[in-house]
Amino acid sequence: MTKINVDSNLDDIYSNIWRCISGGIKNRHSDFHTFSLATSTNNMVNNRTVVLRGCDPEKGKIVFHTHLSSLKIEEIRDNDNVECLFYSRKNKIQIRLKGKAAIHNNDELCNNKWNKMSRQSQLCYFQNIEPGNKIDDPKKIHQVHGNHISEHFTIVEVTITKTEWLYLSHDGHRRAEFKHNNVNTGQWLAP
Ligand SMILES: Cc1cc2nc3c(=O)[nH]c(=O)nc-3n(C[C@H](O)[C@H](O)[C@H](O)COP(=O)(O)O)c2cc1C
Repeated sequence: MTKINVDSNLDDIYSNIWRCISGGIKNRHSDFHTFSLATSTNNMVNNRTVVLRGCDPEKGKIVFHTHLSSLKIEEIRDNDNVECLFYSRKNKIQIRLKGKAAIHNNDELCNNKWNKMSRQSQLCYFQNIEPGNKIDDPKKIHQVHGNHISEHFTIVEVTITKTEWLYLSHDGHRRAEFKHNNVNTGQWLAP
């Protein structure tokens, strides 16, 4: 991978962004394996960590999995504008992806993905009490695999509308943005 430094140009930065993101999907030790997903509705903001499950650099998409009954899904239904925040302490890079979230449930995409998941990962979607509900005792939570796809299993695809990149360096910070996943829209910003 081209190492980013203060002399990197906008093309190098753009390809590095996608290499970082692509590398985070399978590598659990990568700083890019998880990101912070911000949603907003009714003038309230919510932020939470999710695991990066896929990406498509050509289409400018990133993917995560979640439970249909989660708050984030309710919020995305109300307002599909989201922001995905990645930070790598090791690489000294922050990536902010603004985008539009699309919810997939009970469709071909979900079926295909479900069949490739481990039974352990599938089990999360067979919890007896829906996420976020108040409970008297955490020990009352259990999961029993239904031996079929869970109706709760949901895939969210975020189509990126704007990418903002920040690199912190002793030799001078660097900041740039790209619109609609297009390398040719690269623009330096004051850090
Ligand atoms: C390391 C880590 C990874 C997580 N990955 C996911 C994930 O991929 N999908 C998900 O729905 N929640 C994930 N969570 C839990 C969320 O951060 C959050 O607590 C939960 O989804 C409820 O969020 P909500 O009520 O805002 O919908 C993860 C949490 C941590 C700490």
